Amino acid sequence: MNRVEITKDDSPTLYSEAFGQTYHSIHGALSESLHVFIKHGLAEIAQSKKEISVFEMGFGTGLNAALTWQYALQNQLQITYITIEKFPISEEVSTQFITQDSDLNDRIVRLQAVSWNEKHILPQFNFQKIKGDLMNLNLSAQFDLIYYDAFSPSSQPELWTEEIFSKMYILLYPSGLLTTYCAKGQVKRNLKNVGFIVESPPGPMRKREMTVARKLISNN
Ligand SMILES: C[S@@+](CC[C@H](N)C(=O)[O-])C[C@H]1O[C@@H](n2cnc3c(N)ncnc32)[C@H](O)[C@@H]1O
Repeated sequence: MNRVEITKDDSPTLYSEAFGQTYHSIHGALSESLHVFIKHGLAEIAQSKKEISVFEMGFGTGLNAALTWQYALQNQLQITYITIEKFPISEEVSTQFITQDSDLNDRIVRLQAVSWNEKHILPQFNFQKIKGDLMNLNLSAQFDLIYYDAFSPSSQPELWTEEIFSKMYILLYPSGLLTTYCAKGQVKRNLKNVGFIVESPPGPMRKREMTVARKLISNN
């Protein structure tokens, strides 16, 4: 069972009893998503491209997806967004997940409501949520950006291995990047071992670091 918790920036997250973890940082769910995935991922790619493809590991509440859609509309981007989720949240819980930003809230509700596995053409946002297991992912598409938003390695170690990161590496275009809130040393080593160039910018709120993994170093 999942239940809603309000985090320190007044935005909601979910607590998963099955995984013993929250879906976002308790220090600020919205702040974390904006910092890790929008600022250190999407905003960087948007400096050089207006058509951007994003793969998200773990659709969860839809917060990252809705923030990305909002950013696309505010910054004249065209985004293709594919996300995977093995354990969709129940309708009962999703109706309790309410953000103070009503535009964001409407987008979350819309993305939660669309059917699984089909492609949906929304304004400046081509969206598909796959109901499935990342471990069995079989996608032929390539992406500019991966939001790697699995539960932590202590809870799901199988999702932070070299094996899975080598699949993520293949999914990216040559100049693509993967962002994650996780800054564990072993995770960074696993990313490096499959070929990523790993950086550790400051994390959101009180967190010292997060991780950005680049497929190739840019020359400029
Ligand atoms: C940290 S939460 C993601 C939060 C989400 N990005 C959001 O914005 O709300 C991790 C998500 O990964 C999902 N998950 C766990 N194991 C998975 C797997 N093997 N394949 C796909 N999704 C998985 C969980 O159900 C959960 O929704």
